[in-house]
Amino acid sequence: MFAITDPLNVEVLSTRLAASTRSVVVVEVAEEVASTNEVLRQRAMQDMLHGRVLLAESQTQGKGRLGRVWHTPKGKNLALTLAWSCDPDPRSLAGISLAVGAAVAESLEKVFGVDMQLKWPNDMYLDGRKCGGVLVETLTDGQQRSLVLIGVGLNIMPVDTEVDQPVADLSSHVGRDVPRNNVAACVIEALVDLLQAWEAGGFSAWRERWQARDLLRDVAVTISGGQTLTGVGCGVDDTGALLLRTAEGIEPVFAGDASVRKEQRV
Ligand code: BTN
Repeated sequence: MFAITDPLNVEVLSTRLAASTRSVVVVEVAEEVASTNEVLRQRAMQDMLHGRVLLAESQTQGKGRLGRVWHTPKGKNLALTLAWSCDPDPRSLAGISLAVGAAVAESLEKVFGVDMQLKWPNDMYLDGRKCGGVLVETLTDGQQRSLVLIGVGLNIMPVDTEVDQPVADLSSHVGRDVPRNNVAACVIEALVDLLQAWEAGGFSAWRERWQARDLLRDVAVTISGGQTLTGVGCGVDDTGALLLRTAEGIEPVFAGDASVRKEQRV
């Protein structure tokens, strides 16, 4: 059984960040919020939030993709949002949620030795089960810059909340307690490195790195939500669209949910 030994703490967490990262972020920890993305969205109306990181011990209305609920029971997960100023052209952010998954996976691999896989578009997997997700939202007011809110949720300890799919957590995977301040620092470093380079390279700098962890590669997949499509996963394009080999040829999928057709692994 894993113990909650490591309450999130700004001072502890900050000592685990590189000085260069500390100089560009302001980190805050809340006991309980509705949703870290939502709190920063509200504040963005009054404030310039570039570099603000909000973590919460629990969320009462954590949001997942496509309006789903994201459970964040107290002290067991990582729920974090980073706000960052960005180019107002929405095309410049194409693929960013995929790149975030890859950046977090690489950083966790370096520090904790875990081999995380990624399921299009923005799910993080361990041992074939979901252990985290990314929710990217953009705020724009028609000014010169927009603000992107990058929300990351990661299961750190096992939870007994009922969810609609098998889930994994970092501590169970590595077989010991994983200090949440270390995980938080690792994720913040990964996000800042990614964002500082994003405007120069965009998703094309991340495509191969994402594909190296692609859970749907050569797998028979059904897409639902909006369009319904079946095919075999063959990576992603330069905008982060999933590429499916169908009877008609290679088709890009821009949105929806991907499920694996188990009976037809190829
Ligand atoms: C998904 O898998 O659908 C995305 C989940 C993203 C959850 C994170 S937790 C921190 C941030 N605040 C939220 O309300 N959602 C994101």
